[in-house]
Amino acid sequence: MPASNTGVPAAATQQQPTRRFSLVRCVATCLLALIVLVGLAVLITWLVINPKKWVYTLENGSVQNFNLTNNHLNATFDFVLRAHNPNRRVSVYYDYIECTVTYEDQTIVFNTIDPFFQPHRNVSRVKSKLVALHSEMSPSTSKDLMIEKTSREIQVDVRFKTRIRLKVGIWKSNHRTLRIVCYSATVQLSRYKHFDKVPCETEL
Ligand SMILES: *[C@@H]1O[C@H](CO)[C@@H](O)[C@H](O)[C@H]1NC(C)=O
Ligand SMILES: *[C@@H]1O[C@H](CO)[C@@H](O)[C@H](O)[C@H]1NC(C)=O
Ligand SMILES: *[C@@H]1O[C@H](CO)[C@@H](O)[C@H](O)[C@H]1NC(C)=O
Ligand SMILES: *[C@@H]1O[C@H](CO)[C@@H](O)[C@H](O)[C@H]1NC(C)=O
Repeated sequence: MPASNTGVPAAATQQQPTRRFSLVRCVATCLLALIVLVGLAVLITWLVINPKKWVYTLENGSVQNFNLTNNHLNATFDFVLRAHNPNRRVSVYYDYIECTVTYEDQTIVFNTIDPFFQPHRNVSRVKSKLVALHSEMSPSTSKDLMIEKTSREIQVDVRFKTRIRLKVGIWKSNHRTLRIVCYSATVQLSRYKHFDKVPCETEL
């Protein structure tokens, strides 16, 4: 009795390792093949879509009705953002756009812009008008603004916070946040309406 008891498991344990080994090898081979296939599919999709970076430039900017009295600011800003989508297959839904003008990291004014759809290989110009009405400035910011005002030009940062969806063929992505920052835009207070274009940085 004890002999047969130990004999059966002994035979089983002798056979199992080779069977288990071949099973493991098969699963490993299948997994590897699957990974290679998925990798190839991703690579081909990537090559077909060929994503390129969007390019944003602040093309024009001006300020009117500038009045800074007792640390309170009235001013009307106008900006034109040039949005270039160089992609052949990717188009963009801009579902929400918020524009903020800051001076020395202090928000002067913000506003939202109408949503729009940008087709592939397209250049669009996004216009924003921002009206600061009795906007409170810290005393130090106010002082610096006053000093800059005498030179008839002020330097601000213009930020766009957008919620976008991508469209490739009939597929649409989820929402994601795209930030566009245009640093050191110089707007003229004089009648002279010159504006130096500002290349903007993006953060997805
Ligand atoms: C920039 O905007 C100002 C004021 O809106 C306008 O007078 C000027 O012609 C614009 N310049 C360009 C190059 O579009
Ligand atoms: C600026 O606003 C103050 C207060 O509203 C007003 O008294 C002053 O005349 C304004 N200055 C200009 C240049 O419009
Ligand atoms: C800004 O405009 C409002 C409304 O026109 C006015 O009451 C206020 O005094 C102005 N403030 C400045 C600093 O010009
Ligand atoms: C870009 O797309 C907008 C909106 O569809 C269209 O009005 C504009 O003409 C297009 N511009 C170019 C250069 O294709």
